[in-house]
Amino acid sequence: MTATDFDKLAKIYDAEKTSPWNDLYERPNSIELMGDVKGLTVLDAGCGGGKHCADLLAKGANVHGFDMSEKMLAFAEEALGDRVSLKKANLAEPLPYEDTQFDRILCALALHYVEHWQTPLSEFHRLLKPGGEVVISTHHPFMDHELAGGENYFAHTLIEDSWDKPDGTLYVRYWRRPLTQMFEEIKAAGLQIDRIKEPMPLPETEAQFPNAYKKLTTQPRFIFLVLKKPN
Ligand SMILES: C[S@@+](CC[C@H](N)C(=O)[O-])C[C@H]1O[C@@H](n2cnc3c(N)ncnc32)[C@H](O)[C@@H]1O
Repeated sequence: MTATDFDKLAKIYDAEKTSPWNDLYERPNSIELMGDVKGLTVLDAGCGGGKHCADLLAKGANVHGFDMSEKMLAFAEEALGDRVSLKKANLAEPLPYEDTQFDRILCALALHYVEHWQTPLSEFHRLLKPGGEVVISTHHPFMDHELAGGENYFAHTLIEDSWDKPDGTLYVRYWRRPLTQMFEEIKAAGLQIDRIKEPMPLPETEAQFPNAYKKLTTQPRFIFLVLKKPN
C-alpha cells in the first residue's frame, strides 16, 4: 500500500472509539512488552495516529515516531504536540536516525505492509544500542493463511482484505509470510529472538465485545516478538 492509501485510512482509523483488536488487545500487549521505558529513548516505527507514542510518553520515555502517511502524522501531532519528535519516513528505506540512537524500538502492526523485511530489520539493528530491544506486533501467519484461502502456507503472498469499521469499510493489502521466513529475516539482520507471544485480550473485552473476545481467545490473530541486539 502507498502513503496515499494510508492517508485515506487515517481518518477512519483515528475516529474509531474503542477497537477490541487495537485498544483492548494489540496496544496493551505491545506496550507491556516494551517494559519499563522510564528515561529511555524509544522509537515508534509506523506510529500511525500516535496512540502507542502517548502510552510510552505516559510511562516516562523520550519518544520519537515516524510514519510514511502525512495524514497519520497530522493526527499524531494534533494529539501529542511537541512532546514527541515525529518524522515522515518509510520502513522500506534507510531511516533518518543516528546509529545506536535508541534503547528500544516498537513496530506495531506495520511490518506486514512491507514486502521485504531486510531493510527495516537491519535499520532497527543499526539504530539500537547494544543490548537494546525491538518489539514487533504483526499479523499471525496462521490467521492470514485462512484469509488467503488456506492454499499454500509456505508462500510469501500479497493479501487483499476489507475491514468493516464504524465509519466505513477499509480496503487493505498486506504481505503474508510463513514463520520460517520471518525468523530467517530476523536472523539475517543480526537480531536475536528473545520472546514470542500469542497473548490474550484485556478481560473487559469479554463484556464489551463478546464476539471479538471469543475469536481472540481461541484463534491466533497477531504475533508479538521481542528481538534483541546482542551486546
Ligand atoms: C495499522 S496502522 C498501525 C499504526 C500504529 N502503529 C498502531 O498500531 O496504532 C499501520 C501504519 O503503518 C504505516 N506504514 C505502512 N507501511 C509503512 C512504511 N513502509 N513505512 C512507514 N510507515 C508505514 C501506515 O501509514 C499506518 O500508519
